[in-house]
Amino acid sequence: MVATASHPQYEVKDLALAPVGKQRIEWAAREMPVIKQVRERFAQEKPLAGIRLVACCHVTTETANLAITLQAGGADALLIASNPLSTQDDVAACLVADYDIPVYAIKGEDNETYHRHVQIALDHKPNIIIDDGSDVVATLVKERQDQLSDLIGTTEETTTGIVRLEAMFKDGVLTFPAMNVNDAETKHFFDNRYGTGQSTLDGIIRATNILLAGKTIVVAGYGWCGKGVAMRAKGMGANVIVTEINPVRAIEAAMDGFRVMPMIEAAPQGDLFVTVTGNKHVIRPEHFSTMKDGAMVCNSGHFDIEIDLKSLGATATEVKEVRNFTQEYKMPDGKSIVVLGEGRLVNLAAAEGHPSAVMDMSFANQALACEYLVKNQGKLEPGMHSIPTEVDQEIATLKLKAMGIEIDTLTAEQEEYINSWTVGT
Ligand code: ADE
Repeated sequence: MVATASHPQYEVKDLALAPVGKQRIEWAAREMPVIKQVRERFAQEKPLAGIRLVACCHVTTETANLAITLQAGGADALLIASNPLSTQDDVAACLVADYDIPVYAIKGEDNETYHRHVQIALDHKPNIIIDDGSDVVATLVKERQDQLSDLIGTTEETTTGIVRLEAMFKDGVLTFPAMNVNDAETKHFFDNRYGTGQSTLDGIIRATNILLAGKTIVVAGYGWCGKGVAMRAKGMGANVIVTEINPVRAIEAAMDGFRVMPMIEAAPQGDLFVTVTGNKHVIRPEHFSTMKDGAMVCNSGHFDIEIDLKSLGATATEVKEVRNFTQEYKMPDGKSIVVLGEGRLVNLAAAEGHPSAVMDMSFANQALACEYLVKNQGKLEPGMHSIPTEVDQEIATLKLKAMGIEIDTLTAEQEEYINSWTVGT
């Protein structure tokens, strides 16, 4: 693609940041032994040779290690941000300056820029799209039907993106294979739970420096991400309340030792609220109005729709930045509500996202899902596809080895027993 004013070769904040980015990417790599092994094999075998690949991810040190791996595998890769606030500008600069990977991502970019970058990504005419939230795939389906013939398939990182892809399938518009990376066990058991658990608290602490011990923290949603946040908040000494709409998950939360109640009851009790539901307006005016003075609200779900900030802004008499990523909304009754990270993913806006050690497995799944799509080109039905169990097991085995943990193997007698139905009582 020839660079033009509307389609530059890259768009990053400042290429001079590249040396800092390089150091940080290499630091992350130390905690990513699985993706390292994938990269070394990819460099030998070039399974993605000639593949035009678009990755729409949070531009972090971990994503950089994925992008370098895809490039080692022969892909002609282009990277855009999957969220306007999650880009690490030094990482974006390093990928352009040191790896010649076109990156279009600037921390704090406005929505218009974000969507322009999605269009630039589609101008790359991708054969494979790695998506995080399904914005690129949804735009392709809505606006670029003529490019579908170029597409081998897509891979999706998040629960939110999977929900959108399933809705597309139901509407009959998912006419290509989509690999469900999120549902791989080596992804959501670790990334969604331990990754979101730790990084969300990290974001809250970096933004506010508050003590969590003794606080009442309301966690909205008890999926894998909510479980992680609730578990880690409890571990830090917080008194945790869970809100849910799913009765099974509500029982789970109760039996895990949390108080469970509707948001309307939790609203006046919480000191800090964290939304991780994937749904819209989970915290809205009827909740804001009964919150304590100084209550803090933040979101760690994919989109910035979980907290109804538009209503809060419309009611507020003043909005003031009181710290980085921390805004105080003054209410007409004199009370204030504090919003972290503008209601966007607080772990990526105010901190660095999930630690490298969990992204190691998530991104090994991504790289291997791309290889799988290429190997099975033309053979996969349109619609959602699970990551093959062997791939999941292989990633877990490599991770365990890197962690220096050995496990038992079945004896011949046990192997025979679990494969037989004849032995009973
Ligand atoms: N999603 C959550 N944490 C992330 C990270 N560190 N890198 C990329 N995507 C992420």
